[in-house]
Amino acid sequence: MIQEIRGTKDILPEEAFYWRFVEENFKKTSENFGYGEIRTPIFERTEVFSGGIGEGTDVVNKEMYTFTDRSGNSITLRPEMTAALVRSAIRHSLLKQNPLQKLWYFGPFFRYERPQAGRMRQFHQYGAECLGSANPESDAEILALADALLDSIGIDKYKLLINTLGNDSVRANYRDSLVEFFKNYETELSEDSRSRLEKNPLRILDSKNPKDIEIVGKAPNILDALDDESRDHFEKVKKMLDEFGIAYEVSPLLVRGLDYYCHTVFEFRSEALGAQDSFGGGGRYDGLFSRLGGKDAPAVGFAMGIERILMVLEKENKLPESKPEADIYLVAVDSEFSAKVHDLCFKLRKKGLKVGCDLTGKSVKAQFREANKSGAKYAAAIGGQEIESREISVKNMNTGEQTSFSINDFIDLKFMR
Ligand code: HAM
Repeated sequence: MIQEIRGTKDILPEEAFYWRFVEENFKKTSENFGYGEIRTPIFERTEVFSGGIGEGTDVVNKEMYTFTDRSGNSITLRPEMTAALVRSAIRHSLLKQNPLQKLWYFGPFFRYERPQAGRMRQFHQYGAECLGSANPESDAEILALADALLDSIGIDKYKLLINTLGNDSVRANYRDSLVEFFKNYETELSEDSRSRLEKNPLRILDSKNPKDIEIVGKAPNILDALDDESRDHFEKVKKMLDEFGIAYEVSPLLVRGLDYYCHTVFEFRSEALGAQDSFGGGGRYDGLFSRLGGKDAPAVGFAMGIERILMVLEKENKLPESKPEADIYLVAVDSEFSAKVHDLCFKLRKKGLKVGCDLTGKSVKAQFREANKSGAKYAAAIGGQEIESREISVKNMNTGEQTSFSINDFIDLKFMR
């Protein structure tokens, strides 16, 4: 027996139903907010991610699925969408066509992480990116969209953590003051944090190591390092969230794991999840266009992990009830009538009905059992008598009541009225 690869998962029909519930609600809500769908390739040139996400990040350093193809090109399975989407926006001059681009996406992503509950090597994200606006209104709208998406599937208990990383000069100064501060504790820091000291000191702030946490408690606070522009941007975002009635908690230690962020950053967390309690995150990334060789453009967005969203729905008992496989099940009284049964099935399906019938030569009794199992509300047996009289008797499976219809009325779905 060949098994799926560790950290990947087969999504079987029963579960796929839950996935569709999330996808369909997310799609509808995105469209209500004026977001259009974008689909990009699942693999890209490696530099899209190494340059876009940043060489000092765990995603680029440790987690990418990178390989050399037969032409000697370095290719990477996308670990996230933002860099790939910006690559595509530059490639197709999307902002020239329309200076504001609001885009959503859904699809598989790949990170070589140690698999555990809620952490996969192939996982799925829904995301939305608003390209072209530097205004805090777009940060607030993106958060309102995230809140509306969660509401559309019944998730109302979540924690939204927000922070600001400020503009480029704030971040550069803050970075320097962090390096200076942590240098005093170099020997006490965990090995991971020590290795981050030069490359990515902001990441030390979200270390889970108890000793690091103690040291971080004394570290300079980014909110004290903001200049007027950065403070003003953050204040406006918070004010709009207050006006929208979206609750949040300001968390000065929230830095996120990808290098492209500036100003607003945020994460959605749920107590229903275990160690991997963050089911979505994002922020502003005004520098990413130029990192990828494009003309400077401001942007903000987020992504949510679908596996984790489904875990929240399951823990909170909010998964939707499955729908019946069929509306009506047609039973062939004998195999000689199966062509007629199929013909009627096709006609009803064309009218939009879900129609079941047997393909394995089952007895009439077994076919009725199947009809029951399928959850169909109606069943009808087709045999010589029905064909001769051109009348079909439809059984209501809930009440047991039988009603006859002419074949034409049957095909016109009169039994449904
Ligand atoms: P991220 O925080 O790396 O951000 O991922 C977003 C979400 O994807 C996480 O909150 C989590 O739910 C899910 N996720 C990430 N890695 C895994 C994994 N190994 N297994 C299961 N789920 C996972 C980004 O990817 C950014 N591109 C978000 C963004 C969009 N920022 C701006 N625009």
